[in-house]
Amino acid sequence: MKNQLENLEKLRPIIASNRLPIKLEKISGKWLIQPGTGGLVTALAPVLRNNNGIWIGWPGAPVNDDLQRLLLDNAANIGYTLKTVDLAEDEISGFYRGFSNEALWPLFHDLLDHCNFDIRHWELYQQANYRFAKSIAEASTGNNFIWVQDYHLIMVGYFLREMGFSDSTAFFLHVPFPPQDIFIKLPWRLEILEAFLCYRLIGFQTERDRRNFIRCVRALLPEAQISQRRKYQIIKYEDRVSRIGTFPISIDFTHFNEDAKSREVNDAAWYFHERFPNQKIIVGIDRLDYTKGIPHRLRAFENCLARYPELRQKMTLVELVVPSRVGVPEYQMMKKQIDEMVGRINGRFTEGGWVPIHYIFGTLSREELLGCYKASEIALVTPLKDGMNLVAKEYCAAHVDDLGVLILSEFAGAASRLGTGAILVNPYNVVEVADAIFSAYVMDPDEQRIRMRKMRSEIRRNNVFRWVE
Ligand code: G6P
Repeated sequence: MKNQLENLEKLRPIIASNRLPIKLEKISGKWLIQPGTGGLVTALAPVLRNNNGIWIGWPGAPVNDDLQRLLLDNAANIGYTLKTVDLAEDEISGFYRGFSNEALWPLFHDLLDHCNFDIRHWELYQQANYRFAKSIAEASTGNNFIWVQDYHLIMVGYFLREMGFSDSTAFFLHVPFPPQDIFIKLPWRLEILEAFLCYRLIGFQTERDRRNFIRCVRALLPEAQISQRRKYQIIKYEDRVSRIGTFPISIDFTHFNEDAKSREVNDAAWYFHERFPNQKIIVGIDRLDYTKGIPHRLRAFENCLARYPELRQKMTLVELVVPSRVGVPEYQMMKKQIDEMVGRINGRFTEGGWVPIHYIFGTLSREELLGCYKASEIALVTPLKDGMNLVAKEYCAAHVDDLGVLILSEFAGAASRLGTGAILVNPYNVVEVADAIFSAYVMDPDEQRIRMRKMRSEIRRNNVFRWVE
């Protein structure tokens, strides 16, 4: 591992992702910038800082002189170079909202009914990917490790290759890769598959995704030669060779674990629980997204209250929904659906001052989030499909007392490693999820500890720094 890192450190890393790892806010007409705080940024920042690295991406707003100045002023604070790719309004609409989030996103999550395949979106996807590739090529000094992130930028590899940059390029897909019978519905399936094979290293979250990808290559590119070399699969296609690996992404376990022990988080957890006296708290936290299975989860909670009346007034579901992709119509419709369901279920079961669902549409500070995880006896993480799902890992990392029960969708990437400690469920099976809530409610502390310790030790070992290595 050490040698690999040393090798990497000889190269100048260039990371490309759709979004730059910053939080940009406009307050009273003035831009404010803060470094991103996610696991990916935390793990990559030291590698970038120590090697004069660059992160290329879209800042989420039109790039003007003010913004450029702000980025320059903050370079010292951030510690590495941020390079912006400016997207025009039609690119944001066709590349980001359109092809990325109305075609690839639902397709890769097996949700064909949500797909909108529009040739204009596909053209703009290629155009934007070309611009990212050009920006990488301009930043490249010849001795680089180019690492492209996620489904927004698959074609970047193809354009880089056309520009003569084929060495030391890697791609990591944060979302799932779909089964062959779903993937082949994509009108531009060959272009996308061939673009994957322009990278020298291709990473997937789980074996499930890697297997699906290999099956698609076998079926659609029969001339590709596939072999196994230790833990990698090697694909030779035309004049290129790619290594395919599985690298489950994770969180900065120590950071979560230590913060969860702090006084601020303990206080936040205490206040949080005080709002629901004599209740067990079940927490659900998700971006507002149809892949997260929020309506299915609400139906399961309702079913649980109907079939186990003894649990009424004894548990509260805290559902935190974080606004996301508000420009995509499907996401607006989902918000309405969730609002209505919460209203209906609360109307049906509220009694004696007890309201079964405490619904928050917004975001929490880090202390509040950790306090909320820590105060919750049960976590319901039930996406219909998910590349990994870091909420599941964060919940465990915050449970420093080794207590708490994780109910986890078998279709989340996280299930491949946390399956021995979590209660695994099929999120489409409302009755099964309802029964899992009951089992979690009555689970004795000894069993909770055994399960939670297994999950915490897995997350501690396979943390996000290991993933970067
Ligand atoms: C998923 C994707 C990320 C993306 C994030 C937020 O986790 O894998 O690449 O950044 O959703 O979505 P947004 O559209 O707001 O960037």
